[in-house]
Amino acid sequence: MDLMADVTSLAKRRGFIYPGSEIYGGLAGFWDYGPLGVELKNNIKRQWWKDMVYDRDDVVGIDAAIIMNPEVWKASGHLDAFTDPLVECKICHQRVRADNEEIKKEHEKTHEDKKVEWTEPKSFNLMTEVFLGVTEPKQKAYLRGEITQGVFVNFQNVIDSTRIKLPFGIAQIGKAFRNEITPGNFTFRSREFEQMELEYFMRPDDKEAEKVFGFWKKERMAWYVNLGVKKENLRYRDHDPDERAHYARFATDIEYNSPFGWKEFEGIHHRGDWDLGRHKLIYKDPDTNEEYTPWVIETSGGVDRAALFFLLDAYNEEKSRVILKLHPKLAPFKLAVFPLLANKEELINKAREIHQILSRNYFVAWDSRGNIGKRYFAQDEIGTPWCVTIDFQSLEDDTVTVRDRDTTKQERVSVDKLPEYIENKLG
Ligand code: GAP
Repeated sequence: MDLMADVTSLAKRRGFIYPGSEIYGGLAGFWDYGPLGVELKNNIKRQWWKDMVYDRDDVVGIDAAIIMNPEVWKASGHLDAFTDPLVECKICHQRVRADNEEIKKEHEKTHEDKKVEWTEPKSFNLMTEVFLGVTEPKQKAYLRGEITQGVFVNFQNVIDSTRIKLPFGIAQIGKAFRNEITPGNFTFRSREFEQMELEYFMRPDDKEAEKVFGFWKKERMAWYVNLGVKKENLRYRDHDPDERAHYARFATDIEYNSPFGWKEFEGIHHRGDWDLGRHKLIYKDPDTNEEYTPWVIETSGGVDRAALFFLLDAYNEEKSRVILKLHPKLAPFKLAVFPLLANKEELINKAREIHQILSRNYFVAWDSRGNIGKRYFAQDEIGTPWCVTIDFQSLEDDTVTVRDRDTTKQERVSVDKLPEYIENKLG
């Protein structure tokens, strides 16, 4: 089994992820999400927002603009230091990331018996330029390279409008853009992607920072495990000082054991007072009037990486079927409803009625084609946890069968108990 090839093919075939602008030959590093992919991504984001914002009384959310005044990026250090090392093949001038040995080796093979030499590494800025306005000279701006700066520049606005006190967090989900030299491994390294981030502000204190850092490190690992990622496929990795981003005093990655090696899933960063300091923002304690620059601990995950790693982790092949064992909270469809036979009007009507009831609370698939076994398998492959079948007994006693994706066991449940049954299963 080639897991990466199998998941990439399933993603395209069943409408999770398509290559971006495919009918024009695509564009490296850009991907489109299909009808099931958008549900998976929305479920990831919804769950993150619930756990990070709704379930906590010390976190508020914002949604800042993608394009900001370029001064923001000058102040934050991104225009000078948000770079990757780039080398060029001296034979064909192909550019690759200097630290990507895998890509370099692959490239060297394309020149067969010629010995490839690489230029000295040069710094390559990852910020994507855009030009605003209709008359020349147009104003140069940037698509944000991280969603984070929108939080820092709104630090005072949030305090003034909510009266929230330190310690507190600001959460945000949104698109970021990086001019990656070598996008690849499906959506893993894209040029347009979504991030879900928490910036947690606190008093500048080393002991406190260690505690807060440790807390979020554990919380974020537990979040992935609770959503079904196998524990053995996750690990922490501390960054060496020379690989830390320019803003980080300390950084730990949560890594995933992917088919292309252990790779960064989410970064936990101690950003100290780097950003607020650069934007000249301070905090005035409303109780003591003391003024200082808070420190920030950040958790920064990628929505697209989460979607990819959840898919890879959930993919299973059994003798006769492929099962995507996605956590029910993440599964695009929570349920599928089937009339046992497609040509019996009473069954279709009853099934439509049940589909309508369940659709009030969940995204529910409908399938009336072909044999029931094939319909079950088609839902297994996209991760639908429960299939509800309406048969002749349903017309007599208002019960249905509910078939479980993972065990394939069926239970008879009365229609009025279905919502409660599903809620209990969802937990
Ligand atoms: N604000 C901090 C920050 O942006 P990062 O480690 O550069 O930190 C955070 O990025 C997360 O964003 C990564 O762990 C990853 O999940 C996601 N990410 C970063 N670059 C990406 C890319 N090119 N394609 C897809 N996801 C990416």
